[in-house]
Amino acid sequence: MNALSKSLKIIPFAKPRLLRLSRAYGQYVWDETGKKYLDCHTGHGVAFLGHRNPRIVESIMRQMELIMTATPAFQTDIADEALSKLSKILPSDMDYVFFLNSGSEAVELAMKIARKITGRKRFIAFRNSFHGRTMGALSVTWNPKYREGYDPFPWETNFVPYNDVNAITSAVDGSVAAVLFEPLQGEGGLTPATQEFAKALTEACEKAGTILIIDEVQAGFGRTGKIWAHEHLNIGPDIIVAGKSMGGGFPVSMVATKNSIGERLREGEHGSTHGGNPLALAAISGGIDVLIGDDVPSKSSLAGEKLSRELKKIVECHTHATRSVKGKGLMLGIELRFNPDEVIRELQRKGLLCLKAGTSVLRLLPPYLITDDDIAFCSETINDVLSGWKPERGGSEP
Ligand SMILES: Cc1ncc(COP(=O)(O)O)c(C=O)c1O
Repeated sequence: MNALSKSLKIIPFAKPRLLRLSRAYGQYVWDETGKKYLDCHTGHGVAFLGHRNPRIVESIMRQMELIMTATPAFQTDIADEALSKLSKILPSDMDYVFFLNSGSEAVELAMKIARKITGRKRFIAFRNSFHGRTMGALSVTWNPKYREGYDPFPWETNFVPYNDVNAITSAVDGSVAAVLFEPLQGEGGLTPATQEFAKALTEACEKAGTILIIDEVQAGFGRTGKIWAHEHLNIGPDIIVAGKSMGGGFPVSMVATKNSIGERLREGEHGSTHGGNPLALAAISGGIDVLIGDDVPSKSSLAGEKLSRELKKIVECHTHATRSVKGKGLMLGIELRFNPDEVIRELQRKGLLCLKAGTSVLRLLPPYLITDDDIAFCSETINDVLSGWKPERGGSEP
């Protein structure tokens, strides 16, 4: 080894938060000095079930004593356990799942399946959509900032305005393999779909034989007050993709398909070395125990209502800096009149970790364990920061 070799660095894709995290538990993280933070960032929403949730840790630890790797070609008890628990939370017409490691990978597989089943090559996604950054997922991710310089994408995508009934009705036709739909847009700005729009979308897909892929990667698994965010809209997906919260912090994702689709997929058409890893399945199994055993959706709904009420008060008090409260359940935010980066930095200094959505939304993705005291701390801290805010600090209007 060359003693003079340069120090190795992570490619700086992520904007540094200038914070060294040393441990985490429940809804909190601590930095290297021992300072505690309320975590409303949760690793882009992953730690929704709380950091190191004891049920999930216990399930993973138990599995570590048995077997740590096995592909889906082999049967394992943990796969049976995860499937049996998942079957209780998936729509009754979905008997097929495939496990992967990240949301993007799940989106990729869903798109591959839609391409194969329909024989079509075009996709529809929405303005402000976010479905990931691998090439297929990036084809259906709207933000030009992420796409620039990476074309051509594998498949042509038409980006339709979200919540526009006429636009979606005329865009879906017999050439479209699938529509990718977030029931509540996350990264794009915390905009929920309207019932009317969701109904028009499903009808258009049914009429054209187009597959409806519902992306529950961020909103799913209890965060919005239902197990799946699309349940608020009374619609039935053809394919669900999920990830983030499902593994309580362990990298997991999943594609679930309707039986009419799953039955048509064949050996060798897809695969993944680590997808469905036994530790990941143990994490999912523990995660579902928490989700159901602790009635996470109800708690999320209740805490979300309380937090949303507090955020509305902040918006009323600070009209010079804010526009509105956005989101649902514990996927909430405040739309600011400027880029929230500086506000996020100041909140971090005061012990509150948040993130951004779109260009102007201060996004909060807390764990469902958030207490009344946490909600009070959260709103007081945001209130404090916005009270001292001078319009010239915020930069230009987004
Ligand atoms: C709705 C949605 N889909 C897909 C993804 C991509 O997931 P991953 O970053 O795990 O690849 C994300 C990530 O934020 C997301 O929010």
